[in-house]
Amino acid sequence: MRAAVVAYLDQLFSLSGRKALVTGGSSGIGRAIARALARAGASVVVVARREAELKETVDELTGLGGTATWVSGDLGSREGVRAAAEAAVEALGGEPDIVVNSAGINLRPPLSDLTDEVWDRTMAVNLEAPFLLGQRFGPGMAERGFGRIIHVTSQQAHRAFVQSGAYGVSKGALESLARSQAEAWSPYGVTVNTLVPGFVMTPLNERLSADPDRVADLAARTLVGRNGLPEDFEGAAVFLASPASAYVTGQAVFVDGGFSVH
Ligand SMILES: NC(=O)c1ccc[n+]([C@@H]2O[C@H](COP(=O)([O-])OP(=O)(O)OC[C@H]3O[C@@H](n4cnc5c(N)ncnc54)[C@H](OP(=O)(O)O)[C@@H]3O)[C@@H](O)[C@H]2O)c1
Repeated sequence: MRAAVVAYLDQLFSLSGRKALVTGGSSGIGRAIARALARAGASVVVVARREAELKETVDELTGLGGTATWVSGDLGSREGVRAAAEAAVEALGGEPDIVVNSAGINLRPPLSDLTDEVWDRTMAVNLEAPFLLGQRFGPGMAERGFGRIIHVTSQQAHRAFVQSGAYGVSKGALESLARSQAEAWSPYGVTVNTLVPGFVMTPLNERLSADPDRVADLAARTLVGRNGLPEDFEGAAVFLASPASAYVTGQAVFVDGGFSVH
């Protein structure tokens, strides 16, 4: 029976033979997703700027028995995204079957102080990079008849929260982009979905995480009674990357301990 269970789970969720590109794969939620995809059998390339964190991540993934490489690139400009995409294809030894957009920034100035520069930088990393990677890889996935695109958005795509400013706008638009991409490519075997975190204890939230009262308040707003951890995204990411999610597309999947429904 054990062998039959393993074979069934393998058929549903195995990523063996798949190639995955994970932006922001060197930290927080992206790193947990990269680890999960590698452990489920995908060959993974992680893309971010800082080399030390990238190397450390690849060491961790290969230490777990996975296949992983890294590309250092700045996704804050169109040229940077294009160069990173080509370097990732070279590192993977072919086009990715799975693209995860987890790289993101939250600069948080109050709206009255929000400059053009902050707006442009936020849109470039959080929205334009996922758009450009979709344009680069989506049509090829559709031609090959299989693809999985997973964006990481935010509960701030759905509500204003601690100065959502440009950040919330970029994440709301990213959810719309996911629906447009799903409309374009899902008839050809490509699903496009978003993972929606609530409050997750990662370097992105260092300032907020340092305030124990604030952390406790946020935990109390969930239904589970605690804030998120990067590893909470592992199962949902494997599902959305796997054959099992073939009929799930254009969806926002909330991984937030019930934060959004409380
Ligand atoms: N943590 C939360 O509570 C929370 C809540 C809602 C949504 N999210 C979303 O979840 C995603 C992951 O967040 P996280 O909390 O895991 O953040 P994190 O730990 O700060 O990780 C962000 C990642 O993005 C990379 N990155 C940032 N700017 C980049 C750029 N210009 N070019 C290339 N890579 C870049 C970072 O690497 P380098 O700095 O080395 O480039 C890092 O790998 C983000 O999209 C975020 O908006 C997080």
